[in-house]
Amino acid sequence: MKSRWEGLNYIEICSGLGRCVIRDDGREIDGTALAIINHPIFGLIKKALFIDYSPKVVDTLTKRINALNASNKAVARVGDYMDPTGIAKLLNTLPSGCLNLCFVDPTQCDVPFETITGIAKILRKVDFIINVALGTDVTRNIVGAILDTSFAAVRKKYASFLGSEDFFNRDDVHSFAMQGKNEELRRAFVAEYLQGLDRLGFRYVDAKPVKNYYHLLFASGNPKGLEFWKKACAIGPDNQREMF
Ligand SMILES: C[S@@+](CC[C@H](N)C(=O)[O-])C[C@H]1O[C@@H](n2cnc3c(N)ncnc32)[C@H](O)[C@@H]1O
Repeated sequence: MKSRWEGLNYIEICSGLGRCVIRDDGREIDGTALAIINHPIFGLIKKALFIDYSPKVVDTLTKRINALNASNKAVARVGDYMDPTGIAKLLNTLPSGCLNLCFVDPTQCDVPFETITGIAKILRKVDFIINVALGTDVTRNIVGAILDTSFAAVRKKYASFLGSEDFFNRDDVHSFAMQGKNEELRRAFVAEYLQGLDRLGFRYVDAKPVKNYYHLLFASGNPKGLEFWKKACAIGPDNQREMF
């Protein structure tokens, strides 16, 4: 019987250059791009597309991909998530008829919802993992964005991220901000984002906090996607299964 899809593509937006340095002890480890290329699962992937807006980053990652003899499957390309049309052009180079996993890893909540919508439209069968900088960006700026007119640029950024101004017009959100209820605001912010994803057809979602820094948000249109995500989250970075 013919499978309903012809392979799996991996797409990463904000790929970085493939290696990271741990701040505390200066140790160098694989970043997300090299971690996936070096993982045994990479053998199952049809095409990996790494996108970053820095030509220098893309050039370095390309050299690393070549050094690993992975250029038959993996490419790094310059692209800016602020430019949905440019991102769309890059995505159109991927093999069609595949399932796709798209990881979006920015340092702040500024990826326009329009970009996410564009990716979903082009790739169709896609699950997302999105890094939402709740513990840093949102914690620092959300009260100001709601109450303080001098935060107009930040508010605009969040409205673009969420896909509308609705969040800022809510009475409960205003009241949380007035009372300095940061935790409630963070929760409402994520819930608003998830509602936007739901409207795009991503009904199976989960948000996993990573220390106090950020949430990794998973979104799929298929319950199987969420099942795989939960299984994957039960395995630590050291390959140990978590007890609970
Ligand atoms: C946190 S780093 C990514 C780290 C990488 N994913 C990892 O964990 O190894 C963020 C990256 O986003 C890239 N970036 C920042 N703004 C961008 C934009 N508008 N479009 C695409 N990439 C962007 C930066 O050049 C940087 O390499």
